[in-house]
Amino acid sequence: MVAQVGDDQYTANNVSRALTPPAGIVITYIMKVLNPFVWFQNHSKKFKLFLEWMAHNRGGLPTWLETDPFDKEVGNTTDETVLFVDLGSTRGHQSIELRERFPTMSGRIVIQDQEHVISTVKPPHGIETMVYGFDTPQTVEGAKAYYVRMILHDYLDEQYRKILRNTIAAMTEDSVLLIDEVVLPEFGAAWRATL
Ligand SMILES: C[S@@+](CC[C@H](N)C(=O)[O-])C[C@H]1O[C@@H](n2cnc3c(N)ncnc32)[C@H](O)[C@@H]1O
Repeated sequence: MVAQVGDDQYTANNVSRALTPPAGIVITYIMKVLNPFVWFQNHSKKFKLFLEWMAHNRGGLPTWLETDPFDKEVGNTTDETVLFVDLGSTRGHQSIELRERFPTMSGRIVIQDQEHVISTVKPPHGIETMVYGFDTPQTVEGAKAYYVRMILHDYLDEQYRKILRNTIAAMTEDSVLLIDEVVLPEFGAAWRATL
């Protein structure tokens, strides 16, 4: 939407010019003044599309399961073990993929999101759902893994630190924190990677 002319330096291009006023003002307002996830609560059709997009936006690319030795990392588990807590999971597409990748691995998988998301999902494979807000203490303690995918980049430093602090407080020595984000080069990132 904008052209990069240097590190942290951007200028308008034809796309940004085409979107300025009134549409450009709306975009700025949503991203900077309102929390988009609060805005979505009153725009359910757009939110449904967003949830679909989140589930497929990295389609065809390798997932974290290709590079993370999850089964070795978690070691022995039982049916009572909380294996995986998926924070801000949307409909739990990553948790479903995890269960399908390791169908015989015992342990509970919990997906967490806002009430208006969780109330619309019924994930397969006995995956549990839980309403959870990032700014509150994590109530599932001592899980083997806490997974945060494409969340932290949406927040200012102090806000995402709070999310991490709430998560870390629930972890034990046996827990791992898995942060799944796209790391971009400072200059010339491919447009698709920036979405
Ligand atoms: C960018 S999506 C990421 C979804 C998923 N982790 C993925 O990688 O596809 C952000 C998710 O966080 C949820 N969310 C936003 N604010 C939240 C909050 N304060 N507490 C809990 N979940 C929140 C949204 O409902 C949405 O499902």
